[in-house]
Amino acid sequence: MEGRNRDRLRLQCDLFSPEGEEEFMSDVASFQLGDQQLEMPVVTGSEGERGVDISRLRAETGVITLDPGYANTGSCQSDITFIDGEKGILRYRGYPIEELAQKSTFLEVAYLLLYGELPTQDVFDEFKDEICHHTMIHESIKWVYRGLPKAAHPMAVCAAVVGALATYYPEDLEPGDSGQVRMSVHRLLAKFPTIAAYSYKYSIGQPFMYPVNRLDYASNFLHMMFATPCEEYEIPQEVSQALDLLLILHADHEQNCSTSTVRMVGSSLSNLFASISAGIGALWGSLHGGANQAVIEMLEQIALEDGSAEAFVSKTKDKKSGIRLMGFGHRVYRNYDPRAKILKSACSSVLDALGVQERLLEIAMNLEEIALKDEYFVSRKLYPNVDFYSGLIYRAIGIPVNMFTVLFALGRLPGWMAHWKEMHQDPAFKIGRPRQIYVGPEERSYVPMENR
Ligand code: CMC
Repeated sequence: MEGRNRDRLRLQCDLFSPEGEEEFMSDVASFQLGDQQLEMPVVTGSEGERGVDISRLRAETGVITLDPGYANTGSCQSDITFIDGEKGILRYRGYPIEELAQKSTFLEVAYLLLYGELPTQDVFDEFKDEICHHTMIHESIKWVYRGLPKAAHPMAVCAAVVGALATYYPEDLEPGDSGQVRMSVHRLLAKFPTIAAYSYKYSIGQPFMYPVNRLDYASNFLHMMFATPCEEYEIPQEVSQALDLLLILHADHEQNCSTSTVRMVGSSLSNLFASISAGIGALWGSLHGGANQAVIEMLEQIALEDGSAEAFVSKTKDKKSGIRLMGFGHRVYRNYDPRAKILKSACSSVLDALGVQERLLEIAMNLEEIALKDEYFVSRKLYPNVDFYSGLIYRAIGIPVNMFTVLFALGRLPGWMAHWKEMHQDPAFKIGRPRQIYVGPEERSYVPMENR
């Protein structure tokens, strides 16, 4: 960027609240660029978060904002999830994650995210009934699996199969039709456990197990994962409860990378299945959902070497090593991730209940203790995130490592769909299309091959 003009834009937020005005009034920020001055509204959310609405900036001044990684950019107003990263607060539709984790179930949380309120018993029974009766996938979808290599990562398989659902339900793809949206949302919530479990069964060469609709959501998934036609899988209650808890904790996290991807794809009026398939792709990366797999691989590596958490933490501080302490740090949380707090204690209870001795848990707790006292991590406000302990629970309940991120996707599905729906109902809806500052060559003439 050297040598390029860096003018100064003066941003002044004059926040005035005339007496008697409503609490959530818009205040004003004034921008100054050279001689030009522009006033822009400041939007205040229900928890007091403020954002300058710059939607008229380019039209009025010709400049745009530049914000790599969108760390300062609000892409929408949303009433689904609230996070206070400084205080370590997470709430779905106003309900603290700690309460939902303790008192609710994943399907109830899914309803809450999708429809905004906790359901009454009748409404919930109807919802559950509908989800339970769409769990099977079309028999011919099994050929989609068979067309893929057995060694394929299940995230790639799930993205492909979810995308393929659009070919089975062409009559329900219209984002503007509430009946079609409801049908697609319920179908996908119902079928995703089947799709996910089949991706595992296919990879190990076992027959696909049909869903059993009398089972609850988590137990049904476990049945499809671990039963075979020759043997029933007795589902330990601790295991299905642990899985349900993990799904609740992953159900939404406002405008993260995969949710923003789902919104972006959906903003072109692309269908739900295509949008979610793209979200699965975004979640797969190791800086996002793929971190849960990366954490276990990191812990296994440490155990395999000398088990020294101290030596490993030192490596993660050395930028040249290219190694990060996986499961640590978060774009939004500058405090302990509240989900990690719940999972740390759940991890110990699940392991105790199942009688599992886990050397990796010991290493993880050691890593955490060292990192939380280390100046490098303290000064950067890097704390354990949701992925730090989740993998240990998945492992204890028998989930293979390459399925960890698929389970993250299973949990995040209601959040993705709630955002997709919300975006289409937003009066400010627009196709997502960021701008850029071009820094490539200026105009030049084509040079024939022989002269290059
Ligand atoms: N280990 C070592 N150093 C780290 C780590 C880490 N895990 N995370 C951040 N840093 C350092 C980073 O090198 C940088 O240092 P400096 O200021 O000296 O350049 C500083 O902390 C800020 O990091 P950043 O990469 O600018 O922060 P970000 O907000 O862009 O990235 C993150 C957030 C989650 C990608 C990052 O913390 C990370 O890579 N963590 C490890 C991967 C991980 O656990 N991901 C799961 C995230 S939570 C669940 C989810 O979203 O899916």
